[in-house]
Amino acid sequence: MQKVKKAIIPAAGLGTRVLPATKAMPKELLPIVDKPAIQYIVEEAVASGIEDILIITSRGKDLIVDHFDRSPELESRLEKGGKLEALEEVKRIASLCNISFIRQKEILGLGHAVLQAKTFAGGDPVAVLYGDDVIMSERKPVCRQLIDAYETYGKGVVGVKEVSTEQILKYCSLAVEKIKDNIYTCSDMIEKPRKEEILSHFAILGRCVLPPEIFQLLEETQPGAGGEIQLTDAMARLCRSEGMIAVDFDGKRYDMGNKLGIMEAAVETALRHPEIGKEFRDYLKNLVSSIDFS
Ligand code: UTP
Repeated sequence: MQKVKKAIIPAAGLGTRVLPATKAMPKELLPIVDKPAIQYIVEEAVASGIEDILIITSRGKDLIVDHFDRSPELESRLEKGGKLEALEEVKRIASLCNISFIRQKEILGLGHAVLQAKTFAGGDPVAVLYGDDVIMSERKPVCRQLIDAYETYGKGVVGVKEVSTEQILKYCSLAVEKIKDNIYTCSDMIEKPRKEEILSHFAILGRCVLPPEIFQLLEETQPGAGGEIQLTDAMARLCRSEGMIAVDFDGKRYDMGNKLGIMEAAVETALRHPEIGKEFRDYLKNLVSSIDFS
């Protein structure tokens, strides 16, 4: 089985659910305490053994390119000011991985964004990490959990979690059957199902590993839910022809395209943060004790 060494991070979407914050600022750069969301995602890919990353951007998202570039002025200022720890971190970001960028010229949907990576994939399998889904895991990075399943079963893999009925109507519902532990076969999926179309409460949350055939399927995919070219419509055909694997991953997902997700990520990360964790805990304790929950 071919090893998975390439990853795609689609980050071209308009982020309309978190306006006005995302009017000029890419949602993928929204900070979780002191690090932009997309840096967590790149670090997860690197920790999973990925060697090449393609980030899909669009007009107005060049700040993402700048974030992963060297910054000579800033570096020299930090060096002169003796801020060596910050200097190291700034330099480290620019050398995390071999990162390249491509623009999605029209925002036609996640499937269309992934299709922009066809040449980059060059016939190899690819991991896809959605640019607004940060997933933190205490043990193995979630992208690695999926790659392990791909290398074991030789089929495309989706990262899943069970969600509420209200949520499944907005996500993609999967037809699954358990193989063992947290691993399932997936024979079908439907994007944004109506209530009577729900296949299960398992939904894809932010990660998948796709075989090379996905690009042909994407080329044949017509606009679906919301008038967008849906990645899940192409994956549904893959499910029905050769089947996919669903991994109920071990990790906590934060939806950075959603106001509540942004706040959960900030609060939980601040509580664990080596620099401000203790102070923030004290602050939160005081705050909570002053709230009237009745
Ligand atoms: P979303 O559907 O959550 O992003 O796509 P969006 O379109 O920005 O969301 P709203 O509804 O307007 O708030 C998941 C990921 O796919 C990327 C997004 O940037 C996000 O990281 N995406 C989506 C693209 O790269 N291109 C697209 O055409 C659509």
